[in-house]
Amino acid sequence: MTKRLFVGLELPRNCRETLEALNPRIQGLRWLPSDQLHLTMSFLGDVDASREQGLTTAFAEVRVPPFFLPIRGVGTFGGAMPTVVWAGVGNGHPHLFSLHRRIQDAVLHENLEPDLKPFHPHITIGRARGVSRAKLKPFLRQHEDEEFGLWKVAGFTLYSSALSSEGSIYTVEMQQEF
Ligand code: 2AM
Repeated sequence: MTKRLFVGLELPRNCRETLEALNPRIQGLRWLPSDQLHLTMSFLGDVDASREQGLTTAFAEVRVPPFFLPIRGVGTFGGAMPTVVWAGVGNGHPHLFSLHRRIQDAVLHENLEPDLKPFHPHITIGRARGVSRAKLKPFLRQHEDEEFGLWKVAGFTLYSSALSSEGSIYTVEMQQEF
């Protein structure tokens, strides 16, 4: 039995609701419900039960001082035909990057391959199909520098993700407080 796992940061409810309410209601753009919003720290893919056990032990050792993170601005991934609309966390958050490194070290320690692509912290708020960037431009302009809240990061979460026809269903597998 394997689970599709990832490590993420859970946003406070008020920030999630603020982001959910931004929905510009554009055809082809699927806005994510507030209970699915998170910031992915490490995507692990399919992991078996014994490795998962090892991971939770390694994650229990990961402690960094709690820190504040702003949620600021919106953007897209995917060029002229974006696939993802995201909310950002501003620039220069050494604490977030050091937490990311600690999590990746714990993953490597369990002989799992973390996703080694450069870390571009973001909160996915919408998924697009067949929507041009030009069509999204008024929305992006309106919110490009907007501050959506300040968030105290005091832990991280190991989630499993199951695919359903309604989208992904996330289950909390472990919560680590600093
Ligand atoms: P995203 O927010 O940028 O889409 C659960 O699926 C989380 O893991 C999502 O938030 C997603 O990031 C990320 N994710 C899903 N598949 C991935 C993959 N193949 N590589 C990296 N991250 C992935």
